[in-house]
Amino acid sequence: MIFGRPTVDNKRFSTGTPEATKATTPRGRDHFHARIRARTAYRTTFPCAPRAHAGSPSPRPSRLAPSRLAPFVARASLPLDTPMTLKVAHPTSESVHRPLDFVESLLSKENVEKGLTEHFFEGKPQLFDKYWDSLKEHELREFFQTRFGKTTSREDRKHAFVVYGASGYTGKLILEYIYEHVKGLGTEITFALAGRTPAKLHARIDAIKQKFPEVAYAPDVLRADIADARDIRALALCARCVLNVAGPFMNTNAHLLVQACLEYDCDYVDVNGEVPFTHKLIGLHDYAKQRRVIVCPNAAGAGGLPDVAAFFAAKELRAKTDADIARMHTFMHSNGGVPSGGTLATRAAMTKAMSKVAKIMADPFALGGTVSDGKRAEDSDKCLNKIEHWDDFDGWSGPFTYAFYDTRLIRRSNWLLMDMGEDPYGMKFNYCEHLLFPDEASARAAASANTSSKKEEEKLKAEGKLYELGEGLDDETRGKLFTDYYVNAVAEDGARVRARVSAGDGYDETARVSVETALLLACKRDELPFVGGVLTPSVAGGQALIDAVRRTGITFEVLPEDFKVDFAKVTERVA
Ligand SMILES: NC(=O)c1ccc[n+]([C@@H]2O[C@H](COP(=O)([O-])OP(=O)(O)OC[C@H]3O[C@@H](n4cnc5c(N)ncnc54)[C@H](OP(=O)(O)O)[C@@H]3O)[C@@H](O)[C@H]2O)c1
Repeated sequence: MIFGRPTVDNKRFSTGTPEATKATTPRGRDHFHARIRARTAYRTTFPCAPRAHAGSPSPRPSRLAPSRLAPFVARASLPLDTPMTLKVAHPTSESVHRPLDFVESLLSKENVEKGLTEHFFEGKPQLFDKYWDSLKEHELREFFQTRFGKTTSREDRKHAFVVYGASGYTGKLILEYIYEHVKGLGTEITFALAGRTPAKLHARIDAIKQKFPEVAYAPDVLRADIADARDIRALALCARCVLNVAGPFMNTNAHLLVQACLEYDCDYVDVNGEVPFTHKLIGLHDYAKQRRVIVCPNAAGAGGLPDVAAFFAAKELRAKTDADIARMHTFMHSNGGVPSGGTLATRAAMTKAMSKVAKIMADPFALGGTVSDGKRAEDSDKCLNKIEHWDDFDGWSGPFTYAFYDTRLIRRSNWLLMDMGEDPYGMKFNYCEHLLFPDEASARAAASANTSSKKEEEKLKAEGKLYELGEGLDDETRGKLFTDYYVNAVAEDGARVRARVSAGDGYDETARVSVETALLLACKRDELPFVGGVLTPSVAGGQALIDAVRRTGITFEVLPEDFKVDFAKVTERVA
């Protein structure tokens, strides 16, 4: 038990996301079968992909002759033996669905044909036609096992983790964090950098070697196209955890990478800051639990860190009282920050997709955690825009862009704690988040400066801080930035804890939180409270994550009753 209290009746909660269950429903199976039927003209009989879905409900009779390959596909030790549906106790979903997009993509006719030609016929299709009939059954069995099956167990994987999308700005900071803080590189821990452009990854390694000449280790470089099922299979099989930093996430096939991780027993961590993308993943929660694989999106400075701060405050309050936590309010106080080129591209991608994702974005419980009381004014997004005085820290609130994301994540943590059999923060838990200002005038000034993304970009350009893809704020300026999260947590019986979590620039914290999460999953799973599920960073990492990020620089404090915020700490705003 995380908080050391008895577990609770989970019927009073819901994920709040009927879409979540829909998301696990194998998409377009009829369409897929139609495609397969259309393949009858193909010269060999390759109904592999659909027939491989062991347990698939009522496979349609194929017009194809009984396939020579199908039995091998089924026996290829792909993790295809799980029944399609399994009844589990869950407040909303009736059954666990196995997501099949990745498997369908991996076992597409094209991939199977290409693989057979490469494996047996030196890549020459004419040899394929000539010698196909001479292949022995055991050869085919071995082919499917090595090309599509699960070839290594988690313990035998070459790397602790692989960083995908490492050529970008966040990838660079992640690499620097690893070189600075991770002990035993090359001995206890090896890792790999992966991405679609190996030359950029090699350039990253050259740069890091110059910056840290005392570290002899150099990571492997893996070329992998996130849209290619064979490439992402190789990624999932080479490590115990994939850390994905390739964004905008909603524009990549990252959900297929997550599915590959589920199939091949590899944990998954990412830094996405996109509610719609995480929403797409949460439908995999029950399947991930069943597979005992941890999927941990949002392990970053925004999202992840406030989530861990909330967890810390909750734990401290629980040490004082047995009562449920009624409300928690976090105030972010910093001297600024500048978006990277990748963050701007992600915002642009979200804006472009808005008509499709508006409903998800507008739902305060898009990632779960709805309280049984129904809609409450205090949970609505209107509260996030309030400019008013708060006694909690004797300061003024102003709207915080990331509150529209952090609030969803922390509500999900509350729900997850219940779903995983722990006690949630509170059955009527309310979470709110703002920026913190010393006076009304500065809160109003900041709110009015918070304009459209176009105007923000114009301002950044004028200041020379409009970054291209792959770029972001320089080391020296980032080094001057701080981010303090002030959390006021109040229990149903009136007990309260005020806490402060102090960190640096959001991109540096993204490197820290994501790497430490990946390391915990890859190397210290027995210290973690849960073995599987689509989890928030605080629920995945628990106290072990707090300890890990504290060790390398974040401070977590319970504040004394007479504490006052030092607003003079902001001597100059960086952006
Ligand atoms: N939540 C947070 O606090 C937080 C913090 C930091 C970053 N992020 C998010 O992390 C993402 C990366 O940010 P960044 O500043 O590092 O961006 P970046 O510098 O532009 O790097 C993006 C990386 O993703 C790769 N990539 C992009 N599209 C891809 C695709 N379709 N297939 C394969 N690889 C692809 C790029 O590869 P190439 O080099 O080959 O183009 C590059 O390695 C963004 O979505 C950002 O919002 C979130």
